[in-house]
Amino acid sequence: MFAVYAARPEADDPLAALTVGERPDPDVPAGSLAVTVRAASLNMHDLWTLRGVGIKPEQFPMILGCDGAGVLPDGSEVVLHPVVTSPGWMGDETLDPKRSLLTERLQGTFADTVVVPERNVLPKPESLSFAEAACMGTAWLTAYRMLFVKSGLRPGQTMLVQGASGGVSTALVQLGCAAGMRVWVTGRSAEKRELARALGAHAVFESGARLPGRVDGVFETVGKATWGHTMKSLEPGGIVVCSGATSGDVDAAQLQRLFFLQLRVVGSTMGTRDELADLLAFLDVSGVRPQIGAELAMTDAEQGFEAMLDGDTAGKIVLTR
Ligand SMILES: NC(=O)c1ccc[n+]([C@@H]2O[C@H](COP(=O)([O-])OP(=O)(O)OC[C@H]3O[C@@H](n4cnc5c(N)ncnc54)[C@H](OP(=O)(O)O)[C@@H]3O)[C@@H](O)[C@H]2O)c1
Repeated sequence: MFAVYAARPEADDPLAALTVGERPDPDVPAGSLAVTVRAASLNMHDLWTLRGVGIKPEQFPMILGCDGAGVLPDGSEVVLHPVVTSPGWMGDETLDPKRSLLTERLQGTFADTVVVPERNVLPKPESLSFAEAACMGTAWLTAYRMLFVKSGLRPGQTMLVQGASGGVSTALVQLGCAAGMRVWVTGRSAEKRELARALGAHAVFESGARLPGRVDGVFETVGKATWGHTMKSLEPGGIVVCSGATSGDVDAAQLQRLFFLQLRVVGSTMGTRDELADLLAFLDVSGVRPQIGAELAMTDAEQGFEAMLDGDTAGKIVLTR
């Protein structure tokens, strides 16, 4: 079948390992379902996989793509939950120490067909297109959990999103605005800040800029490049919710500020199946739709990967079949 895959790990030149070609048709073990992929979306995680981060060398070649939406053999339309738990795991899937994401052990969604455990498919709301539904499983689910499960912020409070144009960042802005938060955003270029404004942000700032006031919560996926600014931006008792470190780990955690202002730092990863169901319902009810910056044929996947590697994003990059 057609597939976009990582042929091998390439730490320094991830695109050198990116292959658009053919992989064997998959087997469908008992308890799993074959989903004909209609749309899938790109995440930074796919670049980490090409670099060999978070995946064992013996797992290559690996079909890329954590997220997807498609059709079951009986014609029903589904969205994929990318968090795969160990057999028999009960409860919050993200807390299973043996969990994996699609593309870590199981093959991913950038292909004609993806095979997943039955519990990893959810019904696609009719109101969402396949392209929109394909944005939900990773970036949007992560943003949903950060904001609604982990942050404890209430509507009316002020949240700062570090980074304007990424998949998780745009989801945070859109969800925050829809939920009645005051949303502030930092972005690295005027164009990216303008995008955040267009998505509803109440104020936008250059990365690292002094803010007009302190915020109740900061949403971090950038890490090293923004951490100092994050810690300086919080009200006493404020919270940082962190789900990524794109620019690397921090050199100085700012512990003095942490204890003196009684700040809270909380980690967040992906989301549960139930949270994904709630996110899908939220979009269905609210009319919010993910910001898709580029929609490409899956055969042109390389173009999407190049854009993400260059930081040239305007929301989600979707690949369609
Ligand atoms: N823990 C989890 O479950 C989980 C789930 C999803 C993603 N993540 C992580 O979250 C991060 C973002 O993922 P994504 O898919 O949203 O990636 P993406 O679409 O490529 O977005 C990258 C974002 O990072 C910002 N950024 C990158 N380098 C920066 C720098 N040096 N200074 C300031 N901002 C910078 C960009 O801001 P500008 O718009 O200003 O350029 C952009 O908003 C990745 O590290 C990913 O691994 C984690």
